[in-house]
Amino acid sequence: MTQVSSLYLHVPFCMHLCNYCDFYKRKLTDHQQQFEDFHQFLLSSDTRHTELLSKYGMEWGKLDTVYLGGGTPSLWGPVGADFFNKHFLKKGLTENVEFTMEIDPGSWTPEMLEAWKGIGLNRISVGTQSLNPHFLKVMDRIHSLDDSLRFLEFLKNENWNYSLDFLLGIPFSKENKRDIQAELDLLLKYSPKHISLYILNARSKYPHIQNLPDDEYIREEYLFVSEYLKSKGFHHYEVSNFALPGYESRHNLKYWRGESVMAMGPTGTGYFALGENRALRYKWKVTQPEVELEELGKDELDLEATYLSLRISDGWQAPEKYSELMKSWQQQGYCLDETGRIKLTSLGFLMLDSLMDDLFRVK
Ligand SMILES: C[S@@+](CC[C@H](N)C(=O)[O-])C[C@H]1O[C@@H](n2cnc3c(N)ncnc32)[C@H](O)[C@@H]1O
Ligand code: SF4
Repeated sequence: MTQVSSLYLHVPFCMHLCNYCDFYKRKLTDHQQQFEDFHQFLLSSDTRHTELLSKYGMEWGKLDTVYLGGGTPSLWGPVGADFFNKHFLKKGLTENVEFTMEIDPGSWTPEMLEAWKGIGLNRISVGTQSLNPHFLKVMDRIHSLDDSLRFLEFLKNENWNYSLDFLLGIPFSKENKRDIQAELDLLLKYSPKHISLYILNARSKYPHIQNLPDDEYIREEYLFVSEYLKSKGFHHYEVSNFALPGYESRHNLKYWRGESVMAMGPTGTGYFALGENRALRYKWKVTQPEVELEELGKDELDLEATYLSLRISDGWQAPEKYSELMKSWQQQGYCLDETGRIKLTSLGFLMLDSLMDDLFRVK
């Protein structure tokens, strides 16, 4: 049996459903009932999950990375910490565990944090989005700038390891002259060790679909932020992620490196690396504790490995047939060739999808 030492758990509740968000979540209206149902869902899923693990020769190991995403997992509160500890930490945590929870700056209490810290939580991902009150409103957030600053002050004073989520390409950025550097300067005062920088991905029904900045603006904004953060000592180690040395997200690196990660909770997606060009991806359904399975073979895994290794600063060992294309990428500033590994620059990260199209065209 192969032990799996990483777990993602999806907690699908929010106080308010932000109009831009695509993650699976429901509005929390009856805290007690909805969390009771959620517990039931997880307990039934656990039985199904144990069958799945054993069918593929895997078993639940001591956890080395844990990630609670959502939704807004902080709403689960101290009751959640008890439940999670009792049912999901039976095998324990490694000494060096990275245990992260996503928290919206308006949905936390010191008691909740204490309870989770007591069972091993040691990293927080804060859904800051913007540090400008006007753009928080535009983004349909219910937290205020004060909520964010109060939370960041608390985290800094209590010596928490935390990451901030920040959005680019948001509506009216151009017309209303979003001062991204001022927001970054404010954010950096709180000494985060990790920053996730997402370009807003809007669906056709998004209410501000007509008010989004153009591609050129987004390109300049992304490259400016990347250069600025690099000048402050951050390493642009993945398309959307920056870290001070040693603070990269170990959990997310497991996905990007094709390592096994278990998942629980509706829409949670797990992955078992089964060796010899085989892998399994499974995704939890939302209505019943059942999974959709996707078995991956050599061709799919080769393609994924290329895409994923270009996404991170580990880089890609390009086969000989791509050498002309790699030279052209270098000339255009999309990549560097570091001792035979192709590593994308920030501009290359931004262009990743079209670079993948270039690769497909090589026979
Ligand atoms: C599950 S949410 C974070 C936790 C918490 N619910 C919150 O919003 O503060 C994860 C992150 O995904 C990002 N996100 C959500 N919808 C997005 C979209 N349509 N495009 C880009 N990023 C998005 C946001 O930056 C958000 O912080
Ligand atoms: S609070 Fe977070 S998860 Fe919930 S809707 Fe807003 S962005 Fe999505």
